[in-house]
Amino acid sequence: MASNQANHHHANISTTLLLFSLLLANLDLTGAQIGVTYGMLGDNLPPPNEVVALYNQYNIHRMRLYDPNPAVLQALRGSNIQLMLGLPSNSLQSIATSQDVANAWVQNNVLNYIDSVQFRYIVVGNEVRPTDPFCPFLFPAMQNIQTAIETKCQAALECSAANRIKVTAAFGYGVMNVSYPPSQRSFREDYGFFLNPILGFLTKNQAPLLLNVYPYFAYVNNPGQIRLDYTLFTAPPGLIPDPPLSYSNLFDAMMDAAYSALERAGAGTLSVVVSETGWTTAGGGAETTVDNARIYNNNLVRHVKGGTPKRPGKPIETYIFGMFDEDQKQPELEKHWGLFSPNKQLKYPINLNH
Ligand SMILES: *[C@@H]1O[C@H](CO)[C@@H](O)[C@H](O)[C@H]1NC(C)=O
Repeated sequence: MASNQANHHHANISTTLLLFSLLLANLDLTGAQIGVTYGMLGDNLPPPNEVVALYNQYNIHRMRLYDPNPAVLQALRGSNIQLMLGLPSNSLQSIATSQDVANAWVQNNVLNYIDSVQFRYIVVGNEVRPTDPFCPFLFPAMQNIQTAIETKCQAALECSAANRIKVTAAFGYGVMNVSYPPSQRSFREDYGFFLNPILGFLTKNQAPLLLNVYPYFAYVNNPGQIRLDYTLFTAPPGLIPDPPLSYSNLFDAMMDAAYSALERAGAGTLSVVVSETGWTTAGGGAETTVDNARIYNNNLVRHVKGGTPKRPGKPIETYIFGMFDEDQKQPELEKHWGLFSPNKQLKYPINLNH
């Protein structure tokens, strides 16, 4: 009896611990899906160690980095920040045509840091289009990076960390064919020759597709056709019918269009990570204001917790573009996407911790 009681007590503690860890895992899924991109095209940005401290200060636990900058990787050591690491498009050809080069890239930029940096994704290329000369190298480069990760890790600890890293690619929204409404959309046919093998690769590896989703650009590129409140998450419910669903914001419509396109391409099990989205505060038309950026990004952070009409209740992993205003970008409107000024002050109030 005594021993039974002890066992029973033990079981209760285990159950409590289990429930507690499930709760923590669940909190992590629903509460920490917001990341911020760290572009470095400014001549006045703070040094990487201060930038990492700023991520921590504002509880930003995910970072997208566009190339393996050694100072940033060093600054990330020991931090609680999960990293989406880019492999720049100008490296695609050398990586695709030599497994040795791919192995060296993974050794120098991933495995050398794997004991203390949390790599989440390797993003091979960004917004590669079928007309880009390096386009045919995108898929083979992804394969070689995957092979490098699988074969290069030596120690058990290193391998378990490495095996969690997903190799993927980020597409611009130009991958989508123009049609209407969201449920009728598909990927552009001219992307098929490299997109279809990639979708098969992602499905096999249970990796997400990365998509840069900018309601802002859809709005400015279709003058007079899209309501501003529909892009800012402030329109009334049911504004755009797509039976049996309906849309009150362009972000959801763009996401669900991508899910419909994935289903049409036979890749309906993939999830979509929003690898960039945001709003610029200056340099464009009347819509490029601090107020609109504040409204868009704050509503976005709240909104992505709840999924979309097509995938309700499934939080969307989302990266806001971007951390800082970058004064070396062109044209003018590209310089003003930052949540922060280079002096580390928020440009407008934003709550990133919903
Ligand atoms: C877009 O879709 C339409 C209808 O399926 C098709 O005729 C057209 O070729 C597609 N365009 C592109 C660029 O994929």
